[in-house]
Amino acid sequence: MNSYQAMVTRSVDNTIRSQIESLQSGELAPGEVRIQAHYAGVNYKDCLSLHGAAKIITQFPRVAGIEVVGEVIESRSEQFLPGDRVLSHGFQRGIEVDGGFAELVQAPAAHLQAIPAGLSAEQVAILGVPGFTAAMALERFEELGLKPDSGLVAVSGAGGAVGRLAIHMLHRAGYRTAALTRKLGNEAALRALGASEVIDISQVIDSKRPIEKPQFAAAIDNVGGAVLSWMLRSLADGGLLASVGNASGNSFDGSVLPFIMRRAQMFGIVANAPWPQRRRLWDKLAGDWKPDFAALQPHVRFIGLNDLLAHAGRQLEGATSGRTVLRFGAAG
Ligand SMILES: NC(=O)c1ccc[n+]([C@@H]2O[C@H](COP(=O)([O-])OP(=O)(O)OC[C@H]3O[C@@H](n4cnc5c(N)ncnc54)[C@H](OP(=O)(O)O)[C@@H]3O)[C@@H](O)[C@H]2O)c1
Repeated sequence: MNSYQAMVTRSVDNTIRSQIESLQSGELAPGEVRIQAHYAGVNYKDCLSLHGAAKIITQFPRVAGIEVVGEVIESRSEQFLPGDRVLSHGFQRGIEVDGGFAELVQAPAAHLQAIPAGLSAEQVAILGVPGFTAAMALERFEELGLKPDSGLVAVSGAGGAVGRLAIHMLHRAGYRTAALTRKLGNEAALRALGASEVIDISQVIDSKRPIEKPQFAAAIDNVGGAVLSWMLRSLADGGLLASVGNASGNSFDGSVLPFIMRRAQMFGIVANAPWPQRRRLWDKLAGDWKPDFAALQPHVRFIGLNDLLAHAGRQLEGATSGRTVLRFGAAG
């Protein structure tokens, strides 16, 4: 048995608390592998879990972290051998089963995939769930007929991880984007990532018009609430809206007008995708949709396990920006 460090989230007297603890690794079941974690992206949902700010974790104690990138060190599956570099996200990791905020992670081989050729482990970690989610939205848009000459694509929560990666990936794929943000101070950074326009959401969301000037061929919403309402009302004829996130809340006001006057289509994105789509999109992220990692570099921050709790608190307050990745000693 090996001892390892993990950020453990417990419910004590109905209060959620997270702290670093030393755990002992257990026996692997048939079909399982043990991973030495090198990176774990820090997602908004993980921050909610760590601070008990929403009911995400189903059973305590739990190691949060919906994604992990690392190296197989022990295997009871024929699919993976020690030394294989792998990634895993979703499949209730960090929610119903222990997740990525630990030096060692145990997982069924069925929840893992090899790091795609063309990406390093660090690059996979930088993309993680946010990059995969942006790729899901882009794939769906293109399935529904969106093309670079269709028009402007709006991205809300532009300063966050999904927002920045979506803007950059859309730009690389030839699309013009409008970044919607609360923080105009990020304008230069968002334009450097490829945003064609930057819109201060405080200037638009108080509008009470039943329908707005048609300006977006498509939109990715990471925020919900009044921002989602405004984007939906601002879609052009045949516009597409991908609902991804709820950083400002779950509900939104709306009417049927965007649907019956402009043929709007709105749909949800769930990153916990089935297998064929996972492999297909990770291959795209390693190929045609591979970001310019040098351009992403100023938008990515690496932290250690000791910094995780404080970082998560700041991310929930909206005081952070870009993509944050937990880096374990082995990868440092
Ligand atoms: N559907 C899925 O499978 C899936 C996958 C990944 C993420 N998500 C969800 O997508 C959302 C974004 O994720 P993320 O990783 O990008 O999170 P993030 O890095 O924390 O960024 C969220 C961004 O939303 C904006 N924001 C935050 N609070 C807001 C508020 N009260 N009002 C308006 N804007 C606000 C901010 O952008 P500005 O600073 O630019 O205003 C912030 O940077 C989260 O809700 C997350 O849970 C869903």
